[in-house]
Amino acid sequence: MSAPPSAGELKYLGRLARLARRRAHAPYSGFKVGAALRVRNGEIVTGCNVENATYGLTLCAERVAVFKALSEGFRRFDAITVVADSKRVTAPCGPCRQILWEMCGDIWVRMENLKGQGQSCRLKDLLPLPFDRRNL
Ligand code: THU
Repeated sequence: MSAPPSAGELKYLGRLARLARRRAHAPYSGFKVGAALRVRNGEIVTGCNVENATYGLTLCAERVAVFKALSEGFRRFDAITVVADSKRVTAPCGPCRQILWEMCGDIWVRMENLKGQGQSCRLKDLLPLPFDRRNL
């Protein structure tokens, strides 16, 4: 199990996630989300939510970050920070948990608001009994 990101690393991930959040396309919900996914080699790939008038085609910030990273050839990850402007922490939705589990495994998940306050856990805590390739 990898060590949790240090305070400095978390601060940097949060900063990049906040910057990505500003690029969110969220005209329907008005709820902007940013994500910063850390590759094990230290590189960071960001994402923001991209909504669609059909609603159902909306992509969450986390999935945008994961798919961007995969399409750039990155395969091994160790942490993701999700930032939103909400009182409650914004935890990844169910489909994002499934995609994160499949492509990133049991990474650290940091959820925070615009001030950098929030909480961290492992993905396994958010998806305790996953369905994955071991079931097939
Ligand atoms: N959203 C995310 O991008 N990530 C989350 O973790 C929760 C929800 C987006 C999807 C949609 O654009 C908006 O937030 C409201 O659900």
